[in-house]
Amino acid sequence: MRHLIDPLDFTREETDRLLGLAETIMDKPSEYAHRCAGKILATLFFEPSTRTRLSFESAMLRLGGQVLGFSSAQSSSAAKGESVADTIRMISGYADIAAMRHFKEGAPFVAARYSRIPVVNAGDGGHQHPTQTLTDLFTIRRCRGKVGDLTIGLCGDLKFGRTVHSLIKSLVRYEGIRFVLISPEELRTPGYILKEVLGPSGHPFTEVRRMEEVMPELDVLYMTRVQRERFFNEEDYVRLKDSYILTPEKLRMGKADLAVLHPLPRVNEIDQQVDQDPRALYFQQARGGVFVRMALILSLLGLEPDILEKEGEPC
Ligand code: NCD
Repeated sequence: MRHLIDPLDFTREETDRLLGLAETIMDKPSEYAHRCAGKILATLFFEPSTRTRLSFESAMLRLGGQVLGFSSAQSSSAAKGESVADTIRMISGYADIAAMRHFKEGAPFVAARYSRIPVVNAGDGGHQHPTQTLTDLFTIRRCRGKVGDLTIGLCGDLKFGRTVHSLIKSLVRYEGIRFVLISPEELRTPGYILKEVLGPSGHPFTEVRRMEEVMPELDVLYMTRVQRERFFNEEDYVRLKDSYILTPEKLRMGKADLAVLHPLPRVNEIDQQVDQDPRALYFQQARGGVFVRMALILSLLGLEPDILEKEGEPC
């Protein structure tokens, strides 16, 4: 049985095959409409979510399966003090696969150790978000034809933004990627990513404070929200929240084929006028998340046996 807790749980080859399957499903969704008949997905969301939870649910429903779950810690027995281990042991009897989002880093990892069904990390605290990364790679692959030979700017809250951490971990496995890390000093990329992921990868990377100075060189601009819920005090959040606002004027400095991505939700960091620009791909990106999750569910349930190897890397 395989789980997806960290983006590196899948090899690059497995990841590429999964993205290929997502494209096939996108082209011919009707062929997959009943593939999960009789299967149940549990969505265990201890933290707020719109896209991730609903795209998982939509994915399972579009595969002909069914879903159950909860959307906040308050409405689950976690509010009574139940452990993640006990929750997943029980859910293993109620569903065939589970997607878990948790405010504690590592909670889905613990769940996977006690689970009898595949567990997917749908975001754990400020740590990782591997299915958003699959969605991001899928979007890049669709707009550029491949993942590789890109200068990618990651902008905003690179400290707490789990989507950024997972995306960097995954992107270093592709050739010709140059990273431009754009953040205020206080929201810099965590040291472990710089030292243990980017450094050893040999990929060039720079850290800058101003978006304007690097805009003309970017192929992809990945915007992120300042993660209010992970701040220790509101004052710091208020001071930093508008550090970057992408406006049509700033976008004018970008390449004609720049791809502007954002995992969403957006707060202020992208002016709504940017939405009209054909380079703004974030709503397309969110839509692609459904096909990616359809491919993931099929693969983890073993209904597409050629995508994942039998044995994963040991966790
Ligand atoms: C992201 C998350 O939850 O980390 N959202 C998402 O899943 N699409 C990004 C965010 O909340 O800022």
